[in-house]
Amino acid sequence: MPLFKRTLSEFLFRRFVLKHYGSNLLVDLQLDAKKETIDYVKANMPDAPYFEKHPQLVKFVVNEASLPGLYLEFGVGRGKSIRWIGADAGRTVYGFDSFDGIPEYWNGNPVGAFAQKKLPKVPDNVKFEIGLFDKTIPGFLQEHEDPVAFLHVDCDLYSSTVTIFDALGPRLQPGAVVLFDEYYNFPRWQQHEYKAFQEFVGKSGVKYEYIGYSVTGQQVAVRILENPIFTGG
Ligand SMILES: C[S@@+](CC[C@H](N)C(=O)[O-])C[C@H]1O[C@@H](n2cnc3c(N)ncnc32)[C@H](O)[C@@H]1O
Repeated sequence: MPLFKRTLSEFLFRRFVLKHYGSNLLVDLQLDAKKETIDYVKANMPDAPYFEKHPQLVKFVVNEASLPGLYLEFGVGRGKSIRWIGADAGRTVYGFDSFDGIPEYWNGNPVGAFAQKKLPKVPDNVKFEIGLFDKTIPGFLQEHEDPVAFLHVDCDLYSSTVTIFDALGPRLQPGAVVLFDEYYNFPRWQQHEYKAFQEFVGKSGVKYEYIGYSVTGQQVAVRILENPIFTGG
């Protein structure tokens, strides 16, 4: 048989294993991230409920956030998660976003990724605070004196998450629930939402527990147990 003629199995091996698996960096970057995530889960959240489906995790977490107070989402984008939250919250949900997309590179995405041409359709109990977080949060907090009951962090970036916790840390009441959309299980997860939250915990002395996590995605939820910098709203 001439050298250039390949059997079907050789062809498939070259096309799918060598080309699409062997030389694709994303596969191993993601497998490394998964391994680091598994180690983290085993060490830090062995008994928390886990979820395979994203909407079920969000529903569970929203039901856990039963205290009076503000329901906030940072990173509205196409509005998928705020529609789920709005449907179960039983109160107003405030969604913060510039709708211009992420202001920095993140996880292989360019500046402006997730930008929206028009505002997403949402239930009547969802209100938008449009602009960069550092511009919209101060005025919002002046107008709304309540503590935070539920916080959804879905802005991807370290810097944006730092802005959120710097501003809202004193409003996070014990019992508040925080859901992160990109906490772990992607390359360099330790540098983004996770890092900003852990730094906030270190600085504030906040105590928290893990109350739910995704085994198929990047989502993790915590409940705030003690907050020495809580000002009462
Ligand atoms: C991944 S998207 C959110 C997805 C959304 N929760 C959904 O379910 O469709 C991230 C969003 O965060 C917003 N964002 C990130 N950093 C921001 C900042 N500092 N100020 C305002 N918006 C920001 C981006 O504009 C983008 O829409």
